[in-house]
Amino acid sequence: MKGKLIVFNHPLINHKLALMRDEKTGTKDFRQTLSEIGMLMAYEVTRDLPTKEVLVKTPVDVAKCQTLAKEVVVVPILRAGLGMVDGITALIPTAKVGHIGLYRDEETLEPKEYYAKFPTVITEATVLVVDPMLATGGSVVHAIKVLKKRGVKDISYVGLVGAPEGVKRVQEEHPDVNIFLAALDEKLNEKGYIVPGLGDCGDRLYGTK
Ligand code: PRP
Ligand code: URA
Repeated sequence: MKGKLIVFNHPLINHKLALMRDEKTGTKDFRQTLSEIGMLMAYEVTRDLPTKEVLVKTPVDVAKCQTLAKEVVVVPILRAGLGMVDGITALIPTAKVGHIGLYRDEETLEPKEYYAKFPTVITEATVLVVDPMLATGGSVVHAIKVLKKRGVKDISYVGLVGAPEGVKRVQEEHPDVNIFLAALDEKLNEKGYIVPGLGDCGDRLYGTK
């Protein structure tokens, strides 16, 4: 079933997220921990992936087994989304990866698109849109719109920290999309940052500030 909001609230993920939120955490630990959380989340995010039955000859007999029925495509929103890709593809090594480049205009907070490239199999695949931060929701809503225009039907969003404003916007504009978050925070501040959040994820990930 689509259109669910799943907030993990998992002890291991919460522990790692506490490290990421800490303003004293530097680039190395921030990057490594984001990837680790990506891997932990991937296990649960893939719980409902469709499977098909296959017969496998074991050394003893023939076993009825289940294998993935569809391709999985991970689509990080550049830049910060890249930080979760390694963790997710560690669990799904056959996943293909598309990229969409967006940045928020600092005045309007609206997303500006500067890059898009997707695997050809994407229309029939299960697509995971990945971006650690769901603030106003503008970036995720835009990325999903781009994918739907290309004919993609099966889309989930995977993020780290969300604000209620962003969740509401995604649910209103894309009610068919599952939302997976490690944590749901309080609100946005006047600059469109998540409170308490973890600051600017792209800058902390790449050391650009
Ligand atoms: C950040 C973040 C999300 C977006 C979330 O990206 O990584 O993509 O903002 O905000 P929204 O929900 O209000 O759209 P940013 O624009 O800072 O670009 P960057 O990842 O390249 O740093
Ligand atoms: N983008 C970020 O990186 N952090 C926020 O809090 C909001 C948008």
